Amino acid sequence: MEERRRTLREATGLDLVGIDPGALTLEAADGMIENVIGTYALPFAIATNFLVDGRDAFIPMVVEEASIVAAASNAARMARPRGFTTTASAPMMIGQIQITHVDDVDAAARALAEATPALLADARRLVPRLAERGGGPVALEVRVLARESLDGGVVVVHLHIDCRDAMGANLVNTLCEALADQVAALAHGRAGLKILSNLCDARTITVRCEIDDAQLAGPDADGADVRRAVAAASRFAELDPYRAATHNKGIMNGVDAVLVATGQDWRAVEAGAHAYAATGPAMPILGDPGAQRGSYRPLAVWRETATGLSGELVMPLAVGTVGGALHVHPGARLALEIAGIEHADRLAALAGAAGLATNLAALRALATEGIQRGHMALHARGLARAAGATGDMVERVAAELAATGDVKADRAREVLARLAAASVLKTPP
Ligand code: MEV
Repeated sequence: MEERRRTLREATGLDLVGIDPGALTLEAADGMIENVIGTYALPFAIATNFLVDGRDAFIPMVVEEASIVAAASNAARMARPRGFTTTASAPMMIGQIQITHVDDVDAAARALAEATPALLADARRLVPRLAERGGGPVALEVRVLARESLDGGVVVVHLHIDCRDAMGANLVNTLCEALADQVAALAHGRAGLKILSNLCDARTITVRCEIDDAQLAGPDADGADVRRAVAAASRFAELDPYRAATHNKGIMNGVDAVLVATGQDWRAVEAGAHAYAATGPAMPILGDPGAQRGSYRPLAVWRETATGLSGELVMPLAVGTVGGALHVHPGARLALEIAGIEHADRLAALAGAAGLATNLAALRALATEGIQRGHMALHARGLARAAGATGDMVERVAAELAATGDVKADRAREVLARLAAASVLKTPP
């Protein structure tokens, strides 16, 4: 571990030697949430080989599941000759102001449309610093949700806000609360909820990569076979929401690990990702005009090209490099520094690239040897440690468990006891 930290120091200039990069003081933890009794640690690792938009990046990952960091690094190596390319939309969030008990929803919609320039001007005055940085409220949209319902006529106003480098939740909620009474008066209704939407489908990241057969090949796998198998696995996810959910889980393995490392609200991104998968447009490279909106879809798809694979991920990714946990969590700030992230769009690009990478690695493994072999080798090491093995005994116990295929806790204890006894006998007096 110290050697890895030294390597990082040489590459980034950040002094990580002898310190725990994720450490959070009890005092800081106590200020973050309520009823704190301690802190809870997870492994903090670096995925390597990533070339994203022509720039190398170490990708910080915090996650409890074995294989994700290795999978991301392996897939990034396959993609490395050309790397990942990304396009970020403007960082546009949606705030919702719900108005209920509206007698005439059409009249309300007209009144709100007429008042839009004034409402936007009021909203902009509330966030002068954001406006100076080129962000702020940019549009207002009125949607009629119900003409008659238990809540009477229901209208929702969407406030579209460019949040620049902030994730934007506080900003958006504050603006919605500030405008709600004015909006309700214009609509002659009652103000209901005032809150952002996590379906931030105007704040997306698109990540692409092209991988040649030669990179896909492995010791036991022909590159062209892997290419065909990965494209077929993608089509399975496009046909079946049961598979699409698992396919998307493989994407979120990479995305979430980066989000946790960098102190982001990963629940918000998860909610947005799955809502987008269920409501978003047909995948651009799917080119399927007949595609049904409303069926749950994979966030990334893979297609065969003449020489390999082409992959594309499109998903909403609301992240920030200012505010939130970044104020207080030194590990999150360090993660941004390690990755050389200065702005939210770079963070979204790296998290998206990590997601496309873990997706490719999962599909490649599933389409060739299956994922259990790799998982079992890591699981065997975990069991060896839990049984009490230390040092090189961990590998010896794990190797025997993996070789017999009997990877269980009681077997680990038996193997450890036998190998330990044998090594004591062999120790010269
Ligand atoms: C496991 O964490 C993720 C996978 O199930 C993803 C997939 O099936 O594509 C391997």
